[in-house]
Amino acid sequence: MYRTHTCGELTSKDLGKKVILAGWVHRRRDHGGLIFIDLRDRYGLTQIVFNPAKSKELHDTAESLRGEYVVMVDGEVSLRPKGTENPKLKTGEVEIAVSKLTILNTAKTPPFEIDDEAQISEELRFTYRFVDLRRKSSRDKLIIRHKVCHITRNFLEVEGFIEVETPILTKSTPEGARDYLVPSRLSQGKFFALPQSPQLFKQILMVAGMDRYFQIARCFRDEDLRADRQPEFTQLDIEMSFVDVDDVLGLTERLIKAIFKDGIGVDLKTPFPRIKHRESIERFGTDKPDIRFGMELVDLTDTLKGGQFQTFEKVIAGGGIVKALNLKGRADISRSEIDGLTETAIKLGAKGLAYFKVGDGAVDCPIAKFFDETRVKAMLTKMDAVKGDMILAVADKKETVNDVLARLRVALAEKYGLIDKNKFNFLWVVEFPWFKYNNEEKRWEAEHHPFTAPYDEDIKLIETHPEKVRAKAYDLVLNGTEISSGSIRIHDSETQLMIFKAIGLDEEEIKSRFGFLLEAFSYGAPPHGGIAPGLDRLIAMMTGSESIRDVIAFPKTQKAVCFMTGAPSDVSEKQLKELGLNLKK
Ligand code: AMO
Ligand code: AMP
Repeated sequence: MYRTHTCGELTSKDLGKKVILAGWVHRRRDHGGLIFIDLRDRYGLTQIVFNPAKSKELHDTAESLRGEYVVMVDGEVSLRPKGTENPKLKTGEVEIAVSKLTILNTAKTPPFEIDDEAQISEELRFTYRFVDLRRKSSRDKLIIRHKVCHITRNFLEVEGFIEVETPILTKSTPEGARDYLVPSRLSQGKFFALPQSPQLFKQILMVAGMDRYFQIARCFRDEDLRADRQPEFTQLDIEMSFVDVDDVLGLTERLIKAIFKDGIGVDLKTPFPRIKHRESIERFGTDKPDIRFGMELVDLTDTLKGGQFQTFEKVIAGGGIVKALNLKGRADISRSEIDGLTETAIKLGAKGLAYFKVGDGAVDCPIAKFFDETRVKAMLTKMDAVKGDMILAVADKKETVNDVLARLRVALAEKYGLIDKNKFNFLWVVEFPWFKYNNEEKRWEAEHHPFTAPYDEDIKLIETHPEKVRAKAYDLVLNGTEISSGSIRIHDSETQLMIFKAIGLDEEEIKSRFGFLLEAFSYGAPPHGGIAPGLDRLIAMMTGSESIRDVIAFPKTQKAVCFMTGAPSDVSEKQLKELGLNLKK
């Protein structure tokens, strides 16, 4: 037997017990002949003591112990001397007087200390992830992740969902990213695609009458990576039959509420507020607004139009707009700070950043002279501005203005400390446009994915006014991050076919890529819909992690390389030959 207890459980209630513990040497201290070791495992730390007066031989062996050696000790639970207890540890009242020591394994000096406070580069941490995960802060994130999966399974079980696994070697599902391809040996020249999501399979499970499906599903997308994007990530994938938007949103709210309550003890208020996509863009410039703070965008196009500032006049004449935000109480920021903000705006894509320091019913800035009193007054009213405020404005094409100000808004909130980091602010964004125009390819494409149902009354606009067609799609946004996305689906082949054609697919392509879906729909498909919370993003937010890499056991670098194994790697000539592949040198 290696152990009778873990390193995180013995207390004064266990006094006098003979125990066996096993774990890693966390820290060693030598004090006046006594050797103290903090023994560590996943559950905690326990102090063990070697007393030379009791056994010289044992004490000598203990002297050879180094950090991260793996050992097993037999001993007796005793009280620590008065004044030496450690109230921070559950085991802090006791120590183990060792009677036998077995070294199970030695260890090289680790590349960094097993210490939560230590500043360690990401590269080092993930290259030595097996050492990193011995740190409590890293380990706890995986434990919360496990808990969330467990809560999800229990919750969905009770709600009547069944978990079904879908293929990893499959056909491309269009979620807007590049596919990872796997060459087939048995069908040479052909490729599997790794799923970007289980989208088509979960819909087919609805046609199959499964009614309520879920899966903790791995998804693969070959796209440019950021802090909240990994090439493989996990979704809590959900699909339900005979539902409309409210049913899916309600179910998701109950699930998220359970996850936060049982996972990290946070009580969330439901229902979450909802905002239409169009309103979200108007007020925040983005479809994933952070609503932990205000500072909303205000359209000043009509208010300032006709003034003498030629930059604005030109933009407006060209069909552009002027929008602004009010940085409350910051009229006093210095010239160099304003220059810094202008630089930020330009980096984000603006041509400049106009500012107005608000005084007593007037504004002070180099371009103030271009605007008469009526326009200034109207602007101040619209901006809800009072003396001491700072108005920042951008003029450009609508998309540029919204994009720049949306990001500037967040950057300003961060810079001036307007964000309450303890808040979890959820928001549903609903009624997305169905189509978005792809300027490069000069065609309409799906804003969500092409299986999303349009609002019934908008179907007639698909051919004539695609820009007006709304989708029964919804995103759940948490503190400015999109954490879930879903929709009610099309469930008849006729509408699906019409939509495929509207996004420029020809008959041949439709048949070869989605023939099986249309075929399935022709055998009696129920109305259905679903959603997919991104597990990694959710856990990252719940644990206050900067990047989703922190909540993935073995994540990849920005270049989609595994830190630890170095994958992807070369393969042998023989393997290539078997696959019928030739590499261009
Ligand atoms: P979508 O593509 O929006 O929808 O993905 C759903 C959620 O998955 C998360 N996510 C990611 N997380 C980490 N790294 C990535 N590269 C990444 N990409 C997406 C996000 C996102 O909200 N089939 C649909 C869902 C549905 O309609 O039911 C889908 O995949 O949190
Ligand atoms: P200029 O007329 O180029 O000297 O710019 C005067 C002020 O207007 C500067 O503060 C610029 O940063 C700002 N500005 C210039 N172009 C724009 C624009 N497109 N939108 C908002 N402000 C601008």
